[in-house]
Amino acid sequence: MSERTLVLVKPDGVSRGLVGEVISRIERKGLSLAALELRTVERSVAEQHYAEHAEKGFFGDLLDFITGGPVVALVVEGPRAISAFRQLAGGTDPVDKATPGTIRGDFGLEVQYNLVHGSDSTDSAEREIKIWFPNL
Ligand code: TYD
Ligand code: MG
Repeated sequence: MSERTLVLVKPDGVSRGLVGEVISRIERKGLSLAALELRTVERSVAEQHYAEHAEKGFFGDLLDFITGGPVVALVVEGPRAISAFRQLAGGTDPVDKATPGTIRGDFGLEVQYNLVHGSDSTDSAEREIKIWFPNL
């Protein structure tokens, strides 16, 4: 009953030195790592990854941000891994939605700088893992 999800530690998380913190929380939850890579994102990859937001006002800023520095991309595996990581991450807005005890709730202040990405459904997870780790 294992599931896989695509997780990103975004450029703010990497530059703030929170990669270990995020991985530690993933591991302490009981999830495991199936892939891990530090990389700088090409704009075309970022556009594919965030395609669902192409019409949103924040899309351009989001692409600038996510391509502005290295990210750590991971494939995380375990029972209900998709929801389990979304639970660890907390809501999209680090103050209004994410609660203390979550990654965003503990470390974030602004919606754009919310530190992590996690796939939101089995379809998204499959789509996103193909984008980031086509050989997996
Ligand atoms: P979304 O998929 O709605 O959130 P989540 O990351 O929780 O799945 O949005 C994708 C990212 O876009 C979000 O993590 C941060 C950014 N974003 C903004 O910059 N402004 C906004 O108003 C929203 C909704 C998102
Ligand atoms: Mg999303």
